[in-house]
Amino acid sequence: MSAHLGQVQKRYVLAFRQYLEKPDEVALLRAYELGRAALGDGLGVLEMATVHARAMATVLDRPLADAERARLVDAQRNFFVEALSPFELAHRASREANTVLRLLNDMLEGQAKRIAYALHDEAGQLLAFVHLAVARAASDLPPEKVGELNAVQGMLNQVDERLRNLSHELRPPVLEDLGLSPALELLADGVSKRWGLEVTVKAALNHHVPATVETTVYRITQEALTNAAKHARATRAEVDLRQTPHKIVCSVRDDGIGFDDTARRRRSGLGLVEIKERVAALGGVLRVGPNKDRGTDLTVEIPLES
Ligand SMILES: Nc1ncnc2c1ncn2[C@@H]1O[C@H](COP(=O)(O)OP(=O)(O)O)[C@@H](O)[C@H]1O
Ligand SMILES: [Mg+2]
Repeated sequence: MSAHLGQVQKRYVLAFRQYLEKPDEVALLRAYELGRAALGDGLGVLEMATVHARAMATVLDRPLADAERARLVDAQRNFFVEALSPFELAHRASREANTVLRLLNDMLEGQAKRIAYALHDEAGQLLAFVHLAVARAASDLPPEKVGELNAVQGMLNQVDERLRNLSHELRPPVLEDLGLSPALELLADGVSKRWGLEVTVKAALNHHVPATVETTVYRITQEALTNAAKHARATRAEVDLRQTPHKIVCSVRDDGIGFDDTARRRRSGLGLVEIKERVAALGGVLRVGPNKDRGTDLTVEIPLES
């Protein structure tokens, strides 16, 4: 037992004894305060259960009449429940915060979709009209003036490209058009062609996946595959996407050089940090580590609302 846990244990046994001798509100408040302090110190429910079990063993470790033993066993319940109640409150608060976070995420995703649409379709169409108008104006101009309009057209093309990229960043249109599994296949295909990395995709999705989760899984796979090609110098990568009613699990495994110690210490890139933040915002977890052959496994688990 750590010195810290030992302290909690001592205080707990003391308060517990006082409660069993005089089971009143003041004694119960002590249990609550003990639980609150333990929670503040970072103790978990399992540790509290151990502390309580040890306290029970200490208190009952003497000859007791059956009736007294039964009274103590009955009374300990209230004390334990009171000591755990700060944990219950914290758990409820975090569940509510998660729900709010999820709603906020869905709202942001909805906004991202609208902005992506406005950039891609509406602004794109306006630009197409401007292109036409400039081309018409060019046809009315004497040849020596046409050069200036060519420069304008070049800039318009750049704006067009920028808008397209921005809209793709906000919400990859391929997700809208095809759905997650085919979008991942297409992504893998693109990575294979661009980086010469052989990528296989196994996707087993059987329930509806919220748009926010789809975009996140897509971005994560994109980043992980790019890392596999760029940093790991991998020749093969596997994407494995599984779904249960309660969560979605996406793993990307490569056969590259693995994380070297400097990279582990440095962890300077933005890619993994962004993945971690995206996943945390959905209440999920990210694990990165060596796989049993060679190379790296990156796995994310994102809870789904049942
Ligand atoms: N699959 C991988 N295999 C080996 N090293 C990796 C892998 N993914 C990431 N790394 C290491 O972790 C660092 C951080 O990666 P990342 O956060 O994606 O940032 P960036 O790609 O912008 O460098 C990389 O510079 C690299 O050293
Ligand atoms: Mg990266």
